[in-house]
Amino acid sequence: MSAESTRTNWPGIIEAYRDFLPIADDTEVVTLYEGATPLYPAPYLSEIKGAEVYLKFEGANPTGSFKDRGMTMAITKAKEAGARAVVCASTGNTSASAAAYAARANMACVVLIPAGYIALGKLAQALVYGAKVLQIKGNFDEALEIVRKLGESGEITVVNSINPYRIEGQKTGAFEVVDQLGAPPDYHFIPVGNAGNITAYWRGYNEYQKAGRANSKPKMMGFQAAGAAPIVLGHIVNNPDTIATAIRIGNPASWEGALAAAKDSFGLISSVTDEQILDAYAKLARYESVFCEPASAASVAGLLATDIEKDSKVVCVLTGHGLKDPDTAISQIKVPEAVDASYSAIAKELGIEG
Ligand code: F0G
Repeated sequence: MSAESTRTNWPGIIEAYRDFLPIADDTEVVTLYEGATPLYPAPYLSEIKGAEVYLKFEGANPTGSFKDRGMTMAITKAKEAGARAVVCASTGNTSASAAAYAARANMACVVLIPAGYIALGKLAQALVYGAKVLQIKGNFDEALEIVRKLGESGEITVVNSINPYRIEGQKTGAFEVVDQLGAPPDYHFIPVGNAGNITAYWRGYNEYQKAGRANSKPKMMGFQAAGAAPIVLGHIVNNPDTIATAIRIGNPASWEGALAAAKDSFGLISSVTDEQILDAYAKLARYESVFCEPASAASVAGLLATDIEKDSKVVCVLTGHGLKDPDTAISQIKVPEAVDASYSAIAKELGIEG
């Protein structure tokens, strides 16, 4: 089957960036044409920061999050190796993405998720794509421990970001940013949970520079939620807690990768409170017309809380779509009561005379 895309001529991230990925000429690629996500100029944020701010909207990927970039690689390589089934632990988005790409590859998919702490849209996705969903009475970190052991059994391929192909795919986000902007930004703001994505973006920026496609690299600015900030605190958090359930993680797998990205880029790993996250989440929708999920807004909450040099170029990654988490969206607004289905009732609501 030839690679075609609903977006004109876009073949998905593997074909687009094949030279940078460990893919053989005869590898059969499993793709849903992920990537080529918009980089929106952000006039409101640019104005208040005195900078040139852009939003990389990863919610525009096929399953609504950045995970699809890594999953096309992980599932392609699992299929190449003859795997029949894949497994992941997830706070929601990885499970939605794994379920979709496994279905595309005719593989079974098992997902372990923390019962009660997964946004409704993500749970719906994993179920509808046909994964076997196991809700555990524990958190993400406990789920990942079990998944590591399942992987060691040799029966099933792990597609969490401990699978190196995930990071390889996700680094293409950095390539796209450079291609879209024409150069790397000065600052790259990004939410941090299991820390795979900050590790991947940093790798991507480095590889693009080595290949002569960029002359500089951004400062990597990673933000955890204050109630789930092990890297900031310097120790494992046993009971992580945040409204941003996607990054409710107390023992990130790519801890070292995140630290290296921050240190080597002269950036930082810091934290933002749930209040700051929700404030950024609301502002993004209201003033930039971008509806992302709460965890994604941690990048912009970080930008709002950080002093940056005037006229800097800034990219904030918005990792997932707002529709993933309708409960949080609705909890943040006053849902209007039903009114009579009459002209007069509506006119009265709108203050229209007669
Ligand atoms: N934003 C969203 C929307 C996420 O789903 C995640 C992670 C992150 C940010 C953090 O990225 O883990 O690479 O540092 N979600 C994982 C999951 C853990 O299971 O879906 P990270």
